[in-house]
Order: sequence, then structure tokens, then C-alpha cells
Amino acid sequence: MKIQTLLVITSMALSAGVASAADTAEIWAKNCASCHAKDGSGNTMMGKKSGVGNYTDAKVQAKFTDEEAAKVISEGKEKMKPFKDKLTPEEIKALVAHIRAFKK
Ligand code: HEC
Repeated sequence: MKIQTLLVITSMALSAGVASAADTAEIWAKNCASCHAKDGSGNTMMGKKSGVGNYTDAKVQAKFTDEEAAKVISEGKEKMKPFKDKLTPEEIKALVAHIRAFKK
């Protein structure tokens, strides 16, 4: 009984917390990697078809600001659907940082 209560409290604390790096990687893998690829290169079938940028390239990264990236994630662009109903502003912000980290 005590262990169950503890588990419930722990899982509540976890889901209420700010998006961790591991969560962000998982969100990326689930929602974004089908087009943008796990490594951000855009080297996927869908990515090539829809013409996504290669985020490992510093020149591509320089083409948009953090604010623009967050706006595209929340409102969508071309083939990319808006994610504002699926992700919290914190998760979107964490995704922008995740994208920046792809740069080599
Ligand atoms: C259906 C394919 C698809 C999915 C899924 C997808 N994207 Fe995109 N994404 C695109 C396309 C197409 C563009 C616009 C191409 C461009 O301008 O480089 C784009 C553009 C972007 C941009 C703006 C880059 C720029 O050059 O202005 C960001 C940031 C971005 N996506 C992040 C994400 C994140 C984060 C996710 C997951 C939550 C995601 N994308 C999911 C296809 C997708």
C-alpha cells in the first residue's frame, strides 16, 4: 500500500516537472524525426520529399532565430503541422535547444 502511494506521488511529480533532456529527445524521436531525422539532418524519405533543412549544418541553423523556430513548431510551416495543441511552451523551448545541439 505504501509503495503504491509512493509510486503515484513520484509519477505525479515527474509529469508536473519541466521537460528534461531525455523527454525532449523522446518528443523529437516521436514527433519530429520522421521528417527531420533523429540526428536533425533531415535525411529521411519524408524529409527529402518535403525539403527540410539539415540542422547539423551551421549555415542552415543561422537562417532562423530561436523565436522563429519556436513559432514554426507551434504554428507549423508548409508540410509541417502545428504542434501548439500537443506540446507545452516549455517543451517547444526545449525542442529549439535540442535542434541547436545538432549543429556540428
Ligand atoms: C511532416 C514532416 C515534418 C514533421 C513531422 C516535423 N517537421 Fe519541422 N519542418 C518540416 C518542413 C517541411 C519544414 C519547412 C522546411 C524549411 O523551411 O526548411 C519544417 C520546418 C521546421 C523548422 C523551421 C526551420 C526553418 O528553416 O525555418 C523547425 C524549427 C522545425 N521544423 C522543427 C520541428 C520540430 C521540433 C518537430 C516536432 C515537434 C517537427 N519539426 C516536425 C517538416 C516536418
